[in-house]
Amino acid sequence: MLNRPTPAFTIQRRADPISDADRAALLVEPGFGKVFTDHMVTIRWSLDKGWHDAKVEPRAAISLDPAAAVLHYSQTIFEGMKAYRAPDGGAVLFRPEENAKRFNRSAKRMAMPELPESLFIEAIDQLVDIDRAWIPDGEGSLYLRPFMFANETFLGVRPSHEYLFMVIASSVGAYFKNKAPAVSVWVSQDFTRAAPGGTGSAKCGGNYAGSLIAQAEAYEHGCDQVVFLDAAERRWIEELGGMNVFFVFEDGSMLTPPTGGTILEGITRDSVITLARERGLTVREEPYSIDQWRADAASGKLRETFACGTAAVLTPIGQVKSANGDFTIGNGGSGAQTESLRQELSDIQRGRAKDTHDWVRKVD
Ligand code: PLP
Ligand code: COI
Repeated sequence: MLNRPTPAFTIQRRADPISDADRAALLVEPGFGKVFTDHMVTIRWSLDKGWHDAKVEPRAAISLDPAAAVLHYSQTIFEGMKAYRAPDGGAVLFRPEENAKRFNRSAKRMAMPELPESLFIEAIDQLVDIDRAWIPDGEGSLYLRPFMFANETFLGVRPSHEYLFMVIASSVGAYFKNKAPAVSVWVSQDFTRAAPGGTGSAKCGGNYAGSLIAQAEAYEHGCDQVVFLDAAERRWIEELGGMNVFFVFEDGSMLTPPTGGTILEGITRDSVITLARERGLTVREEPYSIDQWRADAASGKLRETFACGTAAVLTPIGQVKSANGDFTIGNGGSGAQTESLRQELSDIQRGRAKDTHDWVRKVD
């Protein structure tokens, strides 16, 4: 389908957009994923027409047939990315091409049609452009959620013949609210997130559905996130429910679990590796066991641990709890290396620092 012509967007502005005063009130404390903008993008795909009917339209509920395939077999994928307000007042995106590529890797794994990267980027640009007033000032951002789901009215188990691609946007503040200086994590021994040959590296809804029981267990233990171990040995640290993880040692070197099909290939993860290596730091992409983590934290060899992702940016992990006992990382707060990498990355993402990697894209 990739060689069909790209559909042009029809644009319908909302007749009754939220007033400036009401929007300003919503942006004071937006939280995460609760405040939505005035518009959305929809693009349809069918077996006979390919991608067609691209629209920017007022954000509204969508109607689905009760037999829509997604409701039964969960053929659905998504992305997460942010638009920031740059110092000159303009809107900027961070490595959106990487989201477009990952979206298509997820689509492939889930037997869904790929979306031309240029169409993905244009959909994002269109929505950010029309809703740019929703990008909060200060440390907030506009979280963009492109997603696609099987929309055929059919109960047979096979790849759907119809899909709906959409983009919605949400004005957001910090993902972990009032959790400074660090979050706590629960190590899940009973539940795993992904297995070799499974869908762990795809950003598909089912991965998150399957993780929620462990997330609920984390909350029961007073923790903010889950650490998943590998499915085969229940020994190797993989990632958190919605974030990758890095370990920082006493010599400044860093380690993060390798991508190999069972974890999400995080764009923040890749950016952190690049920035750390440019500082001359050693970054190993190697397996790290839960027992080693505990031992290194106790001996002081391990100084810091942080979670990273679009929503989480870089978030220090201070406490680790598990059925086999709890332990503290460093002094239980944040660490200097986590803070300085977070600052460096945020400054690039927000157009406050020189973009030497060509990572930042203006939305004109
Ligand atoms: N791992 C999981 C399971 C995620 O949901 C996310 C968030 O998208 C990440 C890692 C981090 O990926 P990224 O840095 O591309 O946002
Ligand atoms: C993101 O960071 O974009 C995610 O999808 C993770 C989720 C915790 C919101």
